Amino acid sequence: MQGVRTFAPGRIELLGNHTDYNEGYVLSMAIDLGITADAKVRSDRNLLLHSEQSDDGALIPLDAELSPTKTWADYPLGVLKELLKKGVKLGGCDISFSSNLPLGTGLSSSAALEVSTALAFLGLFGEKLDKLEIAKLCRAAENNFVGVGCGLLDQVSSLFGAANHAIFLDCRSEEVEQIAMPPDYRWLVIPCAVKHELTGGEYNERREQCYEAAKRLGVPALRDANMAMLGGDIGMSDVVRRRAMHIVGENQRVQAAIPYLRKGDMKDFGALMYASHESSRTNFENSIPELDQLVDIARKTPGVLGARLTGGGFGGAILCLVDEAAAEAAGHAIAGKYRDQTAHSTTPIVCQSGAGAQILD
Ligand code: GLA
Repeated sequence: MQGVRTFAPGRIELLGNHTDYNEGYVLSMAIDLGITADAKVRSDRNLLLHSEQSDDGALIPLDAELSPTKTWADYPLGVLKELLKKGVKLGGCDISFSSNLPLGTGLSSSAALEVSTALAFLGLFGEKLDKLEIAKLCRAAENNFVGVGCGLLDQVSSLFGAANHAIFLDCRSEEVEQIAMPPDYRWLVIPCAVKHELTGGEYNERREQCYEAAKRLGVPALRDANMAMLGGDIGMSDVVRRRAMHIVGENQRVQAAIPYLRKGDMKDFGALMYASHESSRTNFENSIPELDQLVDIARKTPGVLGARLTGGGFGGAILCLVDEAAAEAAGHAIAGKYRDQTAHSTTPIVCQSGAGAQILD
C-alpha cells in the first residue's frame, strides 16, 4: 500500500483513577475527537514526521539509534522503536498528523498520537497485530521512550472504543468489555485552562508510592488490597497509606458503578464520581485548586449528576455527567462562574462517544 490514513480517538476516564498500573479496574469511553495520521511510503529509509500544530518537521533515518528529543515527536518515535524491537518490517515513510483533540486537557492526545502512528506503520507495511498487542506496544513506547510510566487505560480506550458504549478494562486479566451507555445523558469536559504538563514527575512518583504500599502490605498489587488492611499501624507513612486508600476506593467505585451503568441509574453513578474526586483531592493529591473549584461549581449547577477530575490529574480537566437536555447550558454556566471566580477562560466540550482507532483508507 502506498498511502494510508488512520484515526485514533482521545478518551475520557469515567471512573477508576490511577488504577490501571495497580492491576485494577477502569471505566472509560472513546470520544469522537482524535488524531488523524496521513502516511505514505518513501523510496529511502527515512521517516519524516510533520504535525499541523507545529512548524518543525523531523527527518529520522530509520536505522539510526533513536534517542528522545523531548518534543511531541517522541510519541511516534517511541512507537517506531517498539515496532522495530518486535521485528516488524518497516520502510521509510512520511507521516503527517492533524488533530481536533485539545492538547493538555487530559483527553489523552499522547495515546491518540501513538495509536494513530502504530496503525499507520502497520497499514503501510502490511503487518498485523491484534488490538491488545498494539495497545501494549504503544504503552511500552510511552514507558520506555517518553519516560511516563502510564498503564494501559489510554491506549486500550483509543483502540477498543465503540459508539454509545463505555469500556470496562480489567487491568489484570486485560479483558475488555464494552457496556452500552444509557441514552439521555452527556459527558461534559471542562478544561481548567491552567498549563501543567504531565511529563512524568508527579505521575511516576504516585506510581512508586502505590508500589511501595503493595509491597508493605505483602500483596502483588493494590488490586489485592482492601480498606481493612489499611487500618492500624501497618508500617507505612500516612502519605503512602492515603495513596493506597485512593486506589482501593477507586476499584470499589468502578465495581459499584457497573450495575448502575447497566440499569441506567446515573444519579448513583454521579455520586461515585463526586466521591472519586474527593479521594483525588484528599488521598491521592493529584487534584489542583482550579479542578476542585470547577467540581464545586459543577455540583451547584442544574442538570449535573456528578463531576470529577479525569485522567492523570495535576491539571487537565474535570468531567461532568449531565442530563442531555441540560448539557450545553450547564457547560456555559460552569465556564461563566469559573471565569468570574478565577479569571480563567475555558471552553466546555460536550463529548460524543466514538468508534475505536482504525485505518480509514
Ligand atoms: C494517565 C495515564 C493512564 C492512567 C491515568 C490515570 O491518563 O496515561 O495510564 O494512569 O492517567 O487513571
